[in-house]
Formats: sequence, C-alpha cells, structure tokens
Amino acid sequence: SVSTKLVIGNWKMHGGLRSNEVLLNALVDGMKSMPPGLKVGVCVPFPYLAQANALLAGSRVEWGVQDLSSHHEGAYTGEVSAVMAADFGTRYAIVGHSERREYHREGAILVAEKAERALEAGLTPIVCVGETAEEREYAFTERVLSAQLSAVLDRLSVEQAASMVLAYEPVWAIGSGTSAGVDDVRDVHAFLRGQLAAKGEAVGRIPVLYGGSLKPENAAALFAVPNVDGGLVGGASLSADKFLPICEAGA
Ligand code: G3H
Repeated sequence: SVSTKLVIGNWKMHGGLRSNEVLLNALVDGMKSMPPGLKVGVCVPFPYLAQANALLAGSRVEWGVQDLSSHHEGAYTGEVSAVMAADFGTRYAIVGHSERREYHREGAILVAEKAERALEAGLTPIVCVGETAEEREYAFTERVLSAQLSAVLDRLSVEQAASMVLAYEPVWAIGSGTSAGVDDVRDVHAFLRGQLAAKGEAVGRIPVLYGGSLKPENAAALFAVPNVDGGLVGGASLSADKFLPICEAGA
C-alpha cells in the first residue's frame, strides 16, 4: 500500500481534438497547485496519444492507453502494440477492463498476455478485475477476482508483477452513479492485497485502485479505505471540474 494516491482517468470512447485540448490544459494547470506526492494520469483513445504527448510532456499529468494488442507485431489488422504506444511517451496501459472482457470476449489468459506486452515495452499495466452483479449475488466475488488476478500473476515474474497496478472495478458500480460501499471495498481490497502478497513482498505493495462511479462527493471516503491506493475514474474524468477535485481527494 502506498501513502500517496494514484488517480487515473479512463476517457473510454470520448473526446475530440478541441475538447481534449481544453481538458488537458486544465489538468496541467490544476496539477500545479497539488501536493507533490499525488500521481495523476489520463488514458486516452489511441488517436489522441500524439496530442497527449504534445500537451502533457513535462507536466505532472501522465498518459496511457485503454487497451493493447496481446501480440508483439505482425499481421493483426486493427491492433496497436505496446511498443507503438510507448513511442508516444505513454506510461500506462489499462488491460482487462470489464468492457473489454464483456464486449470483446477477452479472457483471463489474453488479459495476462496484454499485461506482459505492456511490461516488456516499459509501460505500467493497470490490470482491472471485478465481479458482475450476478456473481456478487451468488457470493462468487472472491472466486471471480482470484481467477482474474491469478491468470495475470501466474504469467508474470515477481519483478514484473511488482511493477503493475491493480484496479478493482465492481462491474455493477461502473457508470451506475453509485459506487460500491466502503465496507465492500475494504473487504475486497484486503482480499486482493492478500492475493498479491502471496506472490511476493514487493508484489504485495503495488497500488490497488478502486473504480466505479468515483466522483468528487465520494472520492475522499473511498480513498480513506485501507488498501485503496487511488482510483480509476470513468465519467468524471471527462471534465476538469470533476476530475481535479477527485485528484485532490487523493492528495
Ligand atoms: O475505468 C473506469 C471505470 O470503468 C469507472 O467508470 O467512473 O464512469 O463508473 P465510471
């Protein structure tokens, strides 16, 4: 667990050159007055990596991608490799987001391969895990999280696993307007911390983010939960007026 928070915005399929410029400049500006320890990043759609590189380089705002190819290079039409993303100063790569798992049928092994590609290219994978409402209802939460996480941990070396970031995103809380409750988050994060620590002491210390309807109103309470090292923010990362106060709650 780390004392200073990491707050990552996931723009999903939103944005445009003009609106991005306004948002990114506001984030760069807003970060100037934030305490030094706080780390902030935005994961943008691939076409805007060059823009993020141009506007954010040298600022306190880092940038990332929302997905990656599981392949190194080759005849994979439409895919973007970790090395290509790294060419644009990219720091983070979200892998295994529930929207990829659900809409693109990504399985645990594929997600693990993507995390491995990210690490090989010098990117920090933000590995997302989370249970659906139905899985939660049947008390399968720990089983589901353990399966999703162990596929990644089994594939990576201890050194690699110690360089990743984990994000707990209960699928039922994403985009719902209501985050998971602090008691649920406390229990799940303690469970995940134990799973990580079993791989090695350094792995047990990686940042574990919470994601799912984070907003200025609930960020401070969620960031105060033990084993919560920051947040992965969807909808509220699209406006500086919402994203900066969430970042500030992690300061
Ligand atoms: O990656 C971000 C999450 O899916 C959370 O999205 O903040 O819009 O609920 P949300």
